[in-house]
Amino acid sequence: MRLLAGWLCLSLASVWLARRMWTLRSPLTRSLYVNMTSGPGGPAAAAGGRKENHQWYVCNREKLCESLQAVFVQSYLDQGTQIFLNNSIEKSGWLFIQLYHSFVSSVFSLFMSRTSINGLLGRGSMFVFSPDQFQRLLKINPDWKTHRLLDLGAGDGEVTKIMSPHFEEIYATELSETMIWQLQKKKYRYIGGKWDKPSEILEIKGQNWEEQVNSLPEVFRKAGFVIEAFTRLPYLCEGDMYNDYYVLDDAVFVLKPV
Ligand SMILES: *[C@@H]1O[C@H](CO)[C@@H](O)[C@H](O)[C@H]1NC(C)=O
Ligand SMILES: *[C@@H]1O[C@H](CO)[C@@H](O)[C@H](O)[C@H]1NC(C)=O
Repeated sequence: MRLLAGWLCLSLASVWLARRMWTLRSPLTRSLYVNMTSGPGGPAAAAGGRKENHQWYVCNREKLCESLQAVFVQSYLDQGTQIFLNNSIEKSGWLFIQLYHSFVSSVFSLFMSRTSINGLLGRGSMFVFSPDQFQRLLKINPDWKTHRLLDLGAGDGEVTKIMSPHFEEIYATELSETMIWQLQKKKYRYIGGKWDKPSEILEIKGQNWEEQVNSLPEVFRKAGFVIEAFTRLPYLCEGDMYNDYYVLDDAVFVLKPV
């Protein structure tokens, strides 16, 4: 543990140094480097194109079942999301930081998960919603506050942070040791967790997003919840040397116990 702490200090110091030395953004150098080291169909294939980013929010409501149509909330690429994207694009452009991350990742991947490496390096933060989007979804105003928040599998706690102003006490669970370290830095209460094989598999059917979300009302009903609201959002992750950011398709539900 002490060794790890020592290594962390060293790594933080070198990141800090590297940042001081290379504050210059270098997308061109990065692009050249990436072209040199990866052929077509490399990691870039997983990237989210900058042009399509308004498509992330599109939902064909006619394809939704009636119960979902009634509670759908349309989200947009708002300023909070744009700030995350801009920061992510800028960070990806720090070539020498990215080279350093890439080097550390390749060494540590021999005995650590990708999530833990990201926790160690303080990178790969995720973004689900901006404060505005969260408030619209819950139909609350900026001053609304309640008692407790529990974030299951909170990662580095960046998503928790968006929700936290509305709660007095914040609890998080996480498996990765390095992510727990990131959560503790943010002063969130960590309540443990262990990895269990899932006891059931969700029956999600359909070829597109709308068809797939139609499978969920029945799942929630059986578990004793009603859907108050839901929206379509991109699940964004900070990028690396190869991509400005990564994006997954996300459906976010607000549920109420019956
Ligand atoms: C890198 O490769 C892409 C695709 O082959 C090309 O469009 C781009 O101009 C190249 N960039 C540089 C800086 O050579
Ligand atoms: C994001 O970056 C773009 C392009 O550099 C700029 O036009 C825009 O104002 C930035 N947006 C925010 C919210 O910082």
